Amino acid sequence: MFRVAEETAEDWWEVEALYDLCFAPGRSALSSYRLREGVNPVPGLCLTARDGDGILAAAIRYWPVLVGGAPALLLGPVAVHPTRQGEGLGAMLIRESLERARVLGFGRVMLVGDAPYYGRFGFEKLEGVEMPPPTNPERVLGIALVPGAWQDVSGAVTRAGPPQGGTGRAV
Ligand SMILES: CC(C)(COP(=O)(O)OP(=O)(O)OC[C@H]1O[C@@H](n2cnc3c(N)ncnc32)[C@H](O)[C@@H]1OP(=O)(O)O)[C@@H](O)C(=O)NCCC(=O)NCCS
Repeated sequence: MFRVAEETAEDWWEVEALYDLCFAPGRSALSSYRLREGVNPVPGLCLTARDGDGILAAAIRYWPVLVGGAPALLLGPVAVHPTRQGEGLGAMLIRESLERARVLGFGRVMLVGDAPYYGRFGFEKLEGVEMPPPTNPERVLGIALVPGAWQDVSGAVTRAGPPQGGTGRAV
């Protein structure tokens, strides 16, 4: 049994350690990290999953970004502890957080990742959405939580300011 909870300030370094374990060294050199610098993650969407002993098994975070000036959510990082991978935990956190985002009124979500994995949640390649280089455009994916939310939205992905809080915010 796993318990899903919103990430707290006390969780921060434990989640960082999990990401260090799950990603290649130098993960913070990835272009997506430039979009996160100096910006707070989105409250209410950053989740942890702990086992019955309280051990951190998986975590997901979201940041606000701008796409051609239009607000969007950047999903990630998401990671599952190597001993817990393939049990559906990643899928559970992704589905749970996307549903929370929809309820909070967010309309569009993007990420940089493997289409064969994220396609199962409804993510598709975004045309004309340019992550800071170097990013393989085939890995730039998005999902509309509100029908048509990505229509006519394209351009450079840039840093957003600190979030004003999620509730009621339509992006
Ligand atoms: C990717 C990750 C979050 C998936 O979480 P998980 O709990 O292990 O995966 P789930 O149990 O939800 O799903 C398992 C399925 O996803 C598939 N899968 C996992 N990673 C995949 C990938 N990168 N590409 C394609 N399929 C993938 C598995 O083959 C399995 O397929 P099946 O359902 O047909 O058997 C997790 O494996 C992880 O933390 N990996 C290391 C960090 C990472 O790569 N994060 C994502 C950055 S884009």
